[in-house]
Amino acid sequence: MHVVFDAESLLGFLAGLDGVYDAPPPLGDPVDLLAHGLQCAAVLRDERPDDLGLQLAGLVHDIGHAVGDDPDHARVGADVVRPVLGARVAGLVALHVPAKRYLASTEPDYGLSEASRLSLARQGSAMTGEEQERFLAHPAAADAVTLRRADEAAKIVGRRVPGLDVWAPRLRTYASGV
Ligand SMILES: [Fe+2]
Repeated sequence: MHVVFDAESLLGFLAGLDGVYDAPPPLGDPVDLLAHGLQCAAVLRDERPDDLGLQLAGLVHDIGHAVGDDPDHARVGADVVRPVLGARVAGLVALHVPAKRYLASTEPDYGLSEASRLSLARQGSAMTGEEQERFLAHPAAADAVTLRRADEAAKIVGRRVPGLDVWAPRLRTYASGV
């Protein structure tokens, strides 16, 4: 599927992720993709209230799971959000999987969910020392790690967080400045 989003169609696509899961259990997360993105964005807003770009990256980071059937969901997601949310947000979306591999390799007790642990092997498992160095050399590495920690914390069934109606005007404002 080749999709070209603008801000409105991106918001419409996100709304359509209500009830859509990244993969069937136990491979998938226990919350649907809309709830997961909203929880991730809420966590990031608490942690980094002045960084709307990072918050929006959290909102859209897993959109690639719902676009086509390419297993590299981070790259697919980055490609589809880039025209709307710009290079920085796209870069953070692309880096959220490398950030997971980085954390898995540097923090032995990094608390991955069952689904994350299972998908890690498909994503390349833990990083070698050389891969870690290359990851850390990326200017967005620290923000990508922050996003990835929020990602893992955004899988709580039934958690109440601000809805897409709250994020829509923020996304439109951000997109208008890209
Ligand atoms: Fe995620």
